Amino acid sequence: MKRIDDPYTPNAGAKPPVLAGREAEMDEFEILLARSMKGRPARSMIVTGLRGVGKTALLNEFRERAEHANWVTIELEASKHDDSLFRRQISLGLRTALLRISPRAKWDEWLEKAGRVLSSFSLTFDPDGTISAGLDVSDFHGLADSQILSHDLTELFVSVGEAARAHKRGVVLLIDEIQFLEQTQLESLIMAIHKTVQRALPITLVGAGLPQIAELAGDAKSYSERLFTFPKIGSLGEADARKAFADPALSEGVGWNEDALSRAIEVTEGYPYFIQELGSAVWGGAEKSPIRREDVEQSIELFEFGLDESFFRVRLDRATPLQAAYLRAMAELGPGPQKANAVAEVLQRSSRSLGPTRSELINMGLLYTPAHGYAEFTVPHFDRFMIREMPHVLVPEKRTRKKEKRAD
Ligand SMILES: Nc1ncnc2c1ncn2[C@@H]1O[C@H](COP(=O)(O)OP(=O)(O)OP(=O)(O)O)[C@@H](O)[C@H]1O
Ligand SMILES: [Mg+2]
Repeated sequence: MKRIDDPYTPNAGAKPPVLAGREAEMDEFEILLARSMKGRPARSMIVTGLRGVGKTALLNEFRERAEHANWVTIELEASKHDDSLFRRQISLGLRTALLRISPRAKWDEWLEKAGRVLSSFSLTFDPDGTISAGLDVSDFHGLADSQILSHDLTELFVSVGEAARAHKRGVVLLIDEIQFLEQTQLESLIMAIHKTVQRALPITLVGAGLPQIAELAGDAKSYSERLFTFPKIGSLGEADARKAFADPALSEGVGWNEDALSRAIEVTEGYPYFIQELGSAVWGGAEKSPIRREDVEQSIELFEFGLDESFFRVRLDRATPLQAAYLRAMAELGPGPQKANAVAEVLQRSSRSLGPTRSELINMGLLYTPAHGYAEFTVPHFDRFMIREMPHVLVPEKRTRKKEKRAD
């Protein structure tokens, strides 16, 4: 069938034609907005899940729904930032929020105050005043400038929340890849939200990230569990996966045979990214409607090739030879959580000497720690890819770490 009509979206973060199986999360999000707007306490959300399950797509959907409900939305993608970059990112977001609540020329006392707090907050990392320039406020020293991130961020969130409330608006920060925040940064955000919930202000944050984030937030503040829910998203169940394959095709007047659907679900195990990639491969190969089981069979090779190119290899390309050897050794043990010393045994090294490599892979977001002492791939089916890519386990020479270079 024609490429131009292909309704599937095998691209990171792409809005899928049908966002299947996320009704519970969307309901929870709408309740959060509605309750916050009424000044009722509601728990914010941090959505967790493996790579390619649709966290970014869900955050995008949240953004659309929030805007539809007349909320001001701020999107941030966290990365390994020092505090000044993190402060800058937050400040730019909140600056935009204030200007969206009302154009500068029409600011009242609440917005003026929030503008002053924001300008003062930005002073240390933005001495040239790029952030405060357009806000054009005076007398702003001494606010939110203690340099204690949790304190300053709280003051800032409260002032923006008060301005939003005065204008009957809400502000939601949508933070993707939230696992990349430093512990103190996450802790500070949690403390700021704690205060705005206590004050019943319509400002909140919703995050998405890899699974270890729940543990991180738990460490960050013992009360995070009371402020946040941690919905886990993963592969789609049978009925939702069926919908994710069939509905987009139907919108183009193309059907799927039952047989074809069952096989497609079996091949993808219902993982959203895999569904889009296979859907697209099948679409390109099939001659006519309805799509048959043979069409699926004939597309599997192209599907796997597409996944290797777009989804798996990009992640491996960033790894050093030792990191790659570590990933390959993990794959040898199979999917699922693996003990650090079992991986070390495969590589004939001590688990201590491999500790830094393991931490690097966690920092890069390739592995996560589902339980103490264990690591697991963040990318579904990465074990199979590693075996395809590196047929044998490579036992690294002793003391090669100093010679390590990035493979790219
Ligand atoms: N609920 C869904 N139903 C069908 N397809 C979906 C769904 N959610 C996401 N997708 C599709 O799956 C793919 C992966 O989505 P997305 O990039 O949002 O995942 P992610 O969890 O953010 O991944 P990563 O951790 O790599 O950033 C995209 O092609 C998207 O269109
Ligand atoms: Mg994403």
